[in-house]
Amino acid sequence: MTAQDLATAAFTRQFGRAAERVSFAPGRVNLIGDHVDYCDGLVLPMPLRQGTAIAWARMDGPQISVYAADYDEVHDFGPEDTGPLNGWRQYALGMLRILGVKGGLQMAIAGDLPRGSGLSSSASLCIALGRAAQSAGLAEPLTGTDLAKAAQRCEHEFAGVACGIMDQMASACGDQGRAMLLDCRNLDSTNIALPPDWTVLIIPSLVSRELVDGEYNARRQSCEEAAQVLGKSLRDCTPEDLACGPLAEITRRRAAHVVAEIARTRDAAAALKAKELPVFGALLNASHASLRDLFEVSHPRVDALVRLCQDYIGARGGARMTGGGFGGCVIAAIPQELGPDLAALIGREYARDAERAIIFLNGDANG
Ligand code: GLA
Repeated sequence: MTAQDLATAAFTRQFGRAAERVSFAPGRVNLIGDHVDYCDGLVLPMPLRQGTAIAWARMDGPQISVYAADYDEVHDFGPEDTGPLNGWRQYALGMLRILGVKGGLQMAIAGDLPRGSGLSSSASLCIALGRAAQSAGLAEPLTGTDLAKAAQRCEHEFAGVACGIMDQMASACGDQGRAMLLDCRNLDSTNIALPPDWTVLIIPSLVSRELVDGEYNARRQSCEEAAQVLGKSLRDCTPEDLACGPLAEITRRRAAHVVAEIARTRDAAAALKAKELPVFGALLNASHASLRDLFEVSHPRVDALVRLCQDYIGARGGARMTGGGFGGCVIAAIPQELGPDLAALIGREYARDAERAIIFLNGDANG
């Protein structure tokens, strides 16, 4: 069942009537460009078919009643509710407050993104909440970019994660099945289709990336420190700037990742456009090494899974961790005909459960 079907059924079960409409926002996978969005960098995420759906109907009165079907939990938000709350409630409260929703709404939320997988379930929840409130006429209509900014504010102010804007932009403004080359400095974007003979496998490492917000915020802080010491945005820095600048060793390594990853993302977008899978794959491999060794956001299990994929793929493509790190998913970009074989190998050598949960993104023959 899709998230939309799940939300519709959950609404009727919980509220005893039919929903008026269903709003949806996708999760995303990032092909390359990790931990650079908060440094004015370039990123290459791709919105997924999977995401968060909200079935909703208006009602009289100031209450907002929200049912989270995945947890079988309900919460009534009153006009005076200020939090703090936990988990999904905090995101719901944040978006309702930021968008100035006054009340009169019942919502049922359901998602089909694997939890703790680093595929942006929280960004998709926030964007879906915004879309529901806007479609119901209870919030001002916003552009996709402004909705993404509101959702980022929700992460910062209500969830305490100092995230960049990639996930929210991919969810709010991306085009399903196309990679989005996003310039996080001015939010300009171009969509690039996956070539028809490529497949990207999204493979869960089964290492859940929960309770890692502190590590994430610390990485961002190091990058901001580097930019401050060097007197310019890391987007404008060269490897030479880093070599000469008076940076502490750990800060230098973090910044070196960012500077090189931005260049890799630019090159990867060009390789994707030119349909050069070996070039694209080599950039993915280099990105993984950098996130593991310089930025230190990987995990031994994730490294093992990436190595397994890379050994199989050789020069035909590449593999890397994706997203914030510390667990979550690995991606492998390969010629389409190798997909089933690599998936079977993962089942045999890594974990059956990982094989079963693989998401295949196939290049669109019409794309
Ligand atoms: C998380 C954040 C994003 C981005 C990635 C790493 O997904 O929400 O803003 O920083 O990590 O690329």
